[in-house]
Amino acid sequence: MDITFLLNGDPVSLTDVSPTTTLLDWLRESRGLTGTKEGCNEGDCGACTVMITDAEGSRSLNGCILFLPQIAGKHVTTVEGIAGPDGTLHPVQQAMVDHHGSQCGFCTPGFVVSMACAHLNGATDHDVQLAGNLCRCTGYAPIIRAADAAADAPVPAHLLSLAKTLPGGPEAAPPKSPTDTQGAPSVCVPDSADALAEWYAAHPNATLIAGATDVGLWVTKQFRDLGDIAFLNQCADLRGISEDDTALHIGAMTNLNVVEAAIAQRHPSFAAMIRRYGSVQVRNAATLGGNIANGSPIGDSPPALIALGAQLHLRQGDARRKIALEDFFISYGQQDRRPGEFVEAISIPKGPDTLRCYKLSKRFDQDISAVCGCLALDLDGPTITAARLAYGGMAGTPMRAGQAEAALVGHPFTEDTMRASMAAMAQDFTPLSDMRASASYRLKTAQNMLLRYLHDMAGDLTDVQQVTA
Ligand SMILES: Cc1cc2nc3c(=O)[nH]c(=O)nc-3n(C[C@H](O)[C@H](O)[C@H](O)COP(=O)(O)OP(=O)(O)OC[C@H]3O[C@@H](n4cnc5c(N)ncnc54)[C@H](O)[C@@H]3O)c2cc1C
Ligand code: FES
Ligand code: FES
Repeated sequence: MDITFLLNGDPVSLTDVSPTTTLLDWLRESRGLTGTKEGCNEGDCGACTVMITDAEGSRSLNGCILFLPQIAGKHVTTVEGIAGPDGTLHPVQQAMVDHHGSQCGFCTPGFVVSMACAHLNGATDHDVQLAGNLCRCTGYAPIIRAADAAADAPVPAHLLSLAKTLPGGPEAAPPKSPTDTQGAPSVCVPDSADALAEWYAAHPNATLIAGATDVGLWVTKQFRDLGDIAFLNQCADLRGISEDDTALHIGAMTNLNVVEAAIAQRHPSFAAMIRRYGSVQVRNAATLGGNIANGSPIGDSPPALIALGAQLHLRQGDARRKIALEDFFISYGQQDRRPGEFVEAISIPKGPDTLRCYKLSKRFDQDISAVCGCLALDLDGPTITAARLAYGGMAGTPMRAGQAEAALVGHPFTEDTMRASMAAMAQDFTPLSDMRASASYRLKTAQNMLLRYLHDMAGDLTDVQQVTA
């Protein structure tokens, strides 16, 4: 496969590269740029953070789970390109020196690139911006102090022009799909949903690659052969958000950071949960379509979307259908998706915001949910008229708690009603025990979320980070 892009200002043209080569491997092994480190090789530690710039701006991504076709036509800045061309340190680099932000230094290049991206984008919520970078020895205080100290310094000219000047010339070309060869896997980089639909109909067993935050690990950790593959990142018409009078429509390829910004006003609790989804780097890659299509019972967005009554838009060739998201998940590992059918969009009906999302995980940041409960009740005066309680981590699929919902509807919004619903929930779920949580912990905490919802709606503080003695 042929791919062109810009690397630290220089054009790069690659011919006949394997489409599942990761940027990290290529930088280190083929280019000798060893500043970008390999820590976990699964998107967890941020040692491999790179800055990617395109028409949508500059953002941090984990190079270890980023395949080369995903960076075609973009500008890649590694830690080697963060300082000025004359060697002048970037303000975040100078601040890391001044504030003793580095000890062994292994994590430092990844931190510096994340900090430079945040600095470029004017983001000063350093805890959030650096949650995807793991440091084992310095401790975070000096690093956060360094980020804070650099915040007001001007963005260096070479990075400012990067953000304003897009790759032009041959670097802007999309990757060239190789011609199909008899017996060899087919690789496709469609440039529209139509092109994807046509190719996928002819290759229904292919692996679709969206943000690669799941698929990347199939390659780096499981060494899986992906067979026929299609990269969806050039399908601009699958990305973006629009709205009409009744709903918000989110393209399947929209990444989680964009989703968060779009729903922050409408459903702040959902947006707050997304801020705990992976890290900035993961959310810059992970797509809403991928988070649904992977069928995971512990994905964070499906419970929230189900509680909001979201619809899933599926497409197979020219045929389109729309289903309630909750009907997509049939059983563990099985979804209502036909051969050659893909997720085109998700729509969220408009309405008053009664949604509350509660994610329980062992760590606050960058952790998969043990239980994720998303609750939305409609009231008419004191009476509950409709209930949508959707949970992840409680069954083989994201699922509504039907019995618990039935115990709410028609009853007053009181603690007694919530306790009756909590008891009924025991008939909805038989959760598993695994490394994240025991079955009894899962059921108990899922039940308790009903009480938390009651207090939340009364305006009481229920967030553990807000409650103080
Ligand atoms: C470090 C780390 C932290 C994470 N933290 C979280 C977390 O906190 N919460 C959470 O929910 N998840 C988390 N994940 C999991 C992952 O980010 C999500 O599942 C993600 O949304 C997948 O989206 P993607 O675009 O990366 O999908 P990919 O990896 O590209 O694809 C995932 C699956 O969906 C299929 N697919 C993708 N798009 C489509 C489409 N449009 N139509 C049909 N099929 C499609 C692919 O073929 C594949 O089977 C984490 C992952 C990592 C690596
Ligand atoms: S090496 Fe750990 S996130 Fe990439
Ligand atoms: S300085 Fe050693 S891991 Fe961060």
